[in-house]
Amino acid sequence: MSAPDRAYELPAELEEFRSVIRALFADKIEPRAAEIDAMDEWPEDVYRVLVDNDLMGVGYPEEDGGSGGGQLAFGVFIEELSRVSAGVALTPIVSKLGVVPLMVAGTDEQRRTHTSAIARGELLMSYALTEPDAGSDAGALATRYVRGDETFTLNGTKRFITGAGVSHTYVVFATGDPALRTKGISAFLVGRDDPGVSFGPAEHKMGIHGSPTREVVLQDVVIAADRLIGAEGGGFAIAMRTLDYSRPVIAAQAVGIAQGALDLALAYANERSQFGKKLMEFEGVSFLLADMAMKVEAARMLTYRALAACDAGDPRTTFHASVAKCVASDNAMAVTTDAVQVLGGNGYMREYPAERYMRDAKITQIYEGTNQIQRLVIARELLKSLG
Ligand code: CAA
Repeated sequence: MSAPDRAYELPAELEEFRSVIRALFADKIEPRAAEIDAMDEWPEDVYRVLVDNDLMGVGYPEEDGGSGGGQLAFGVFIEELSRVSAGVALTPIVSKLGVVPLMVAGTDEQRRTHTSAIARGELLMSYALTEPDAGSDAGALATRYVRGDETFTLNGTKRFITGAGVSHTYVVFATGDPALRTKGISAFLVGRDDPGVSFGPAEHKMGIHGSPTREVVLQDVVIAADRLIGAEGGGFAIAMRTLDYSRPVIAAQAVGIAQGALDLALAYANERSQFGKKLMEFEGVSFLLADMAMKVEAARMLTYRALAACDAGDPRTTFHASVAKCVASDNAMAVTTDAVQVLGGNGYMREYPAERYMRDAKITQIYEGTNQIQRLVIARELLKSLG
């Protein structure tokens, strides 16, 4: 057995890509991270760093105007970006969340037009599923659409929409008949400038600062019939298949946050001395760091497994996506909390990024389906596997 050939690791070009972007982010984004967190404003300059370095096209097919690499490359990109700023990572995350419905069910033209514009840095997208009374129970959404001759008219309110106000185009899920529940839902492309579209005030969140979250309000928004994505009534399946693709990306975000916290805690424990020796020389601290490293590594393996399942069109992607998202986010919460502990009083202060990592980790257990919903999905997939 020749070890190098059989090593269980990412392709060499992805590790090279990682080291290039790690250096870039350390130089251009990390120095801005604390300020972005403090100001909680969308950092257009940092988005431009991503665009200018051709990173907004990572993970999209080359024939659609992207730079290729698939979901695994996109995951490595998001992991490294989240290691320095989870809020910044949401800009590419939600644009992808907007494109995946087009990859799943859109026309070639819809998909290519949107993908190439994102890759060129000319378009940002968002995904508008959640509503005030439809969070975990996404099938209960109440935003209505009415079909005209050549148009659809939309009315309703979407809540907690990541990127709202900044994004140019929104994938909006609406129902033609709530009595049909999930079977009545369709997906539409809605523009920020379409008459009748407005945005609620900025939400004040615990973390992921620099990524705007607002309501998207639709009041008699009339759109052309070609803004429908896929078949009428097929919107719920599109929404769910999109989440199968994007939950592993949230897992990658969680891994990046956790890795950032681990790197910080390790460096601190190796530098700070108390009782005449380095913190790292106390078994209580070194074992804590060992446990943190195990959690990061386990989460990373599950995340790459799920991202690769997306690329391979694996029929068990739903299962792997929810497993990865759940484990990676729970581990990120644990690791970041322990990082604050390792830094002690300094960990609790904004002067160090430990508490930011901890605040940012929390949302990964909540959005793109709470971890209770992930367990429900996993349990249903287990039942299905019985046949
Ligand atoms: N792929 C394809 N089709 C799917 C599917 C999947 N993964 N999952 C379900 N479906 C289909 C089902 O097969 C079913 O079709 P049939 O009626 O033809 O059999 C239909 O969809 C309805 O499915 P369910 O009966 O399972 O639906 P449900 O009402 O029980 O809900 C749920 C299932 C998993 C709980 C779902 O509502 C869910 O995922 N909820 C969480 C919502 C969520 O994740 N929101 C995140 C918002 S986005 C976000 O957070 C982004 C951000 O800010 C960054």
